[in-house]
Amino acid sequence: MALKTLKTETRGRVAIITLNRPEALNALNSELLGELRETLAQYGADEKIGAIVLTGSEKAFAAGADIKEMQPKDYIGAYMEDFFEGWSAVAETRKPVIAAVSGYALGGGCELAMMCDFIIAADTAKFGQPEITLGVIPGMGGTQRMTRAIGKAKAMDLCLTGRMMDAEEAERSGLVARVVPAAELLATATKAAEKIAGFSLPVAMMVKEAVNRADEVTLSEGLRFERRMFHSLFASEDQKEGMAAFIDKRKAQFKHR
Ligand code: HXC
Repeated sequence: MALKTLKTETRGRVAIITLNRPEALNALNSELLGELRETLAQYGADEKIGAIVLTGSEKAFAAGADIKEMQPKDYIGAYMEDFFEGWSAVAETRKPVIAAVSGYALGGGCELAMMCDFIIAADTAKFGQPEITLGVIPGMGGTQRMTRAIGKAKAMDLCLTGRMMDAEEAERSGLVARVVPAAELLATATKAAEKIAGFSLPVAMMVKEAVNRADEVTLSEGLRFERRMFHSLFASEDQKEGMAAFIDKRKAQFKHR
């Protein structure tokens, strides 16, 4: 498929997806959504890919849902198409996905970054949920994922005032995992993805699934889920290899990667 709104490349076992609508600061329209869903599905099915980096431009990861496309919508139309539902495919990607965020990550852009497994931010990054300034509320998970990530006080502050939060505040608040100089953003995110992609892929996918469970179930259910998954890995060749390699003082050669 010839892509119009994304650029893609692979480096070894890492796929890098770059949002590419520079004329609109990577505003998220339906064409971009379709291409992103298709691309994620392809990398998800490609056994040579072990981790994915999602990034944007230096100025904007994404400045939100495309306001020009959204403006004429009416209620029944939005309801019938289940507007924004398609974005859940990003959160449902089973392989690890790192968001590498430089510049603006606003509205749907911030929500897209939060659908990834963790965010590495450039020191230039700015996060916000400015939907209230447009007469709407976040519609791609902002009120839910942000509240879980940074707590009620900060999430209310950002969603009610529409103000932006810089990278330093975002790291302090727990929204982003690391902040790096802008020039090092993609290299840092790619290196982290390479590290993940070097491990056993099913194990990395189970880590993702288990951590995500923490947002959905009670502590006792989550602990039970984690322990059962942990037990199941003793049936895997990669557990035998990983532990044997430690004892033999050599690098593990995982089969499922
Ligand atoms: C469509 C957008 C856009 C967006 C920017 N552009 N953001 N187009 N949708 N979300 C376009 C501009 O119209 C402009 O096009 C070009 O990109 C450059 O933007 P400028 O505003 O000229 O750049 P700048 O002055 O540097 O300001 C950057 C900015 C500003 C602060 C990020 O663009 C901005 O405030 N954008 C909107 C941010 C926002 O409100 N996002 C949330 C959207 S709602 P032209 O053609 O004029 O050059 C959302 C979820 C909705 O995401 C949920 C509802 C259910």
